[in-house]
Amino acid sequence: MDNFVFQNPTKIVFGKDTDLQVGEQTALHAKKVLLHYGGGSIKKSGLYDRVKKSLNDAGVEVVELGGAQPNPRLKLVREGILLCREKDIQFILAVGGGSVIDSAKAIAVGVPYDGDVWDFYDGKGTPQKALPVGVVLTIPAAGSESSPSSVITNDDGALKRGLTVEIIRPVFAIMNPVLTFTLPAFQTACGAADIMAHIMERYFTNTEHVEFTDRLCEAGLKTIISNVPAILRTPENYDARAEVMWVGSVAHNDLFGTGREGDWASHMIEHEISGIYDVAHGAGLAVVFPAWMKHVYAHNVQRFVQFAHRVWNVEIDFGNPEATALEGIRRIEQFFTSIGLPVTLAQLGVKDDRYAEMAKKCTQGDKFTVGGFVKLKSKDVHEILTLAR
Ligand code: NZQ
Ligand code: ZN
Repeated sequence: MDNFVFQNPTKIVFGKDTDLQVGEQTALHAKKVLLHYGGGSIKKSGLYDRVKKSLNDAGVEVVELGGAQPNPRLKLVREGILLCREKDIQFILAVGGGSVIDSAKAIAVGVPYDGDVWDFYDGKGTPQKALPVGVVLTIPAAGSESSPSSVITNDDGALKRGLTVEIIRPVFAIMNPVLTFTLPAFQTACGAADIMAHIMERYFTNTEHVEFTDRLCEAGLKTIISNVPAILRTPENYDARAEVMWVGSVAHNDLFGTGREGDWASHMIEHEISGIYDVAHGAGLAVVFPAWMKHVYAHNVQRFVQFAHRVWNVEIDFGNPEATALEGIRRIEQFFTSIGLPVTLAQLGVKDDRYAEMAKKCTQGDKFTVGGFVKLKSKDVHEILTLAR
């Protein structure tokens, strides 16, 4: 096991009716906030009215900015920064999913910065200050509610880039599983794939003697595998929604990654796909991850045998471990298909004419490699895209 520091300061307020506490939780930090949200699901569900009332009752003044879209855009972030400066806002409340939260985090680092906020996503600078961000989560998926990351898309160049820095972890995250009852089946499934991917990015490691975190990862995966089909059958199954929501957060608050090196190549590749084609992140991962597995499993067959056996209950073929490993990969593809996700780029609507461009952008023309488990060059990324065809 590697040395590590684990500190996650996000206060989690979890359970039924917890969204009614948003005013009280926010008032602990600020008396005037930017209320940031997405394309309108919170208005349809009634959450918007409840949040506004709770803030009002707690004496918190509200300035609003809606319209954060899936794969949130730099343009709205820039608008948010100007708005916060103009209205002298010192706190951002994000009500929605990963896209809204990531957009809020970007605004939060942009407000106190003299330069262009894209510098932080382009690797030209590291933010030293950020406004605090609070969250009311409506979809378990990205884990942004307690992660130190934000992913923003710049339409200029179709670039989707991430920033990871401790100062953007939200100060609180309110998580009421009932708020997720209204999620369309496809979004529920995309969220599940993202959560599984966050776990698997940590699970496939070269670090040895990580038994405890291996077991945590396996428990997280098994919890998603058993509860998501139950939700798809009965969207208002509170207990199943609660399980998935909690795993979703812990899967990306880095507990599962303590003491071990992660991989993250599948995420990097997916970001190239959604940067150009604007696909749902989870759907992109359902396509990329199994292809990545096929490309790299020979690097450590034993780890893939463990994955197949412990997560998917595949009986180990000791005479042919490769067959066991491949069966595990087949099972995850089968699972994604069973919950309505694409497993090929064609199903995702991505043609092969831009594979080379994506492979090149992913490694910045082989200036870097991607992935910790196996270090991938541009030609490997191209092969993975071809396997996902
Ligand atoms: O915009 P609205 O109208 O709210 O609709 C959203 C959106 O269309 C809808 N939705 C959310 N909650 C709902 C709901 N519809 C009905 N009922 C509800 N309760 O769902 C759609 C997807 O929302 P989005 O926020 O885009 O989903 P998600 O949480 O999956 O976020 C995806 C973004 O997060 C990034 C992804 O790259 C992507 O841009 N990620 C962020 C990470 C982080 N910050 O740590 C890590 C991840 O790996 C990921 O890269
Ligand atoms: Zn993700």
